Amino acid sequence: MNALLNPPSWPERMRLQPMRSGSLDVVMAVERMAYPFPWTRENFASSLASGYLAECLFDDHDPHHLIAYYVAQLGVEEMHLLNLTVAPADQRRGWGRRMLQALCVRCLQHGAAKLWLEVRLSNTHARRLYEDFGFVRVGVRRGYYPDFVGREDGIVMCLDLSQAPVEGA
Ligand SMILES: CC(C)(COP(=O)(O)OP(=O)(O)OC[C@H]1O[C@@H](n2cnc3c(N)ncnc32)[C@H](O)[C@@H]1OP(=O)(O)O)[C@@H](O)C(=O)NCCC(=O)NCCS
Repeated sequence: MNALLNPPSWPERMRLQPMRSGSLDVVMAVERMAYPFPWTRENFASSLASGYLAECLFDDHDPHHLIAYYVAQLGVEEMHLLNLTVAPADQRRGWGRRMLQALCVRCLQHGAAKLWLEVRLSNTHARRLYEDFGFVRVGVRRGYYPDFVGREDGIVMCLDLSQAPVEGA
């Protein structure tokens, strides 16, 4: 394992905070820009109602500027990443990697030794992020995602956090 599991360093003006129902207008605005097949507002609302872990990264200089968010479901000693999104105008500046780091810290806090996710076969940017981060491909879900024509496969990936050194330990 590497140093990826250290808490991310955020610039002072950045604020990572729990996603709240009051944030869903701005979350939905980013979600619609980021995906051809976005989550619905109901997907987010039911995630919050179910107590899923969900955090938003805001720019304190502009409280309406949502940079990134994630939604993850805690299971028994494992976490499932359901949504990780960086606003299109803020992509490729290291926010996605930092959000993953922040989620890994949460995994350790919750005793989750594995972090699972699915990613579209065609989503090469996200797949590269996950591979660079240390996720390994463990399977394929055939036709997991909707597509413009038919369905698209989902690649199942997993990060094993059990050997991760905890900063300061
Ligand atoms: C995928 C996503 C979360 C990455 O976030 P990001 O903040 O843009 O990524 P980062 O700047 O942290 O980049 C980390 C690494 O990801 C990969 N990557 C990210 N964007 C890339 C791009 N446009 N081209 C190539 N590689 C890319 C690279 O390996 C990069 O490392 P490097 O900059 O050292 O080369 C973001 O692009 C996004 O939200 N996309 C739309 C929604 C989505 O697909 N979410 C994932 C669903 S599974």
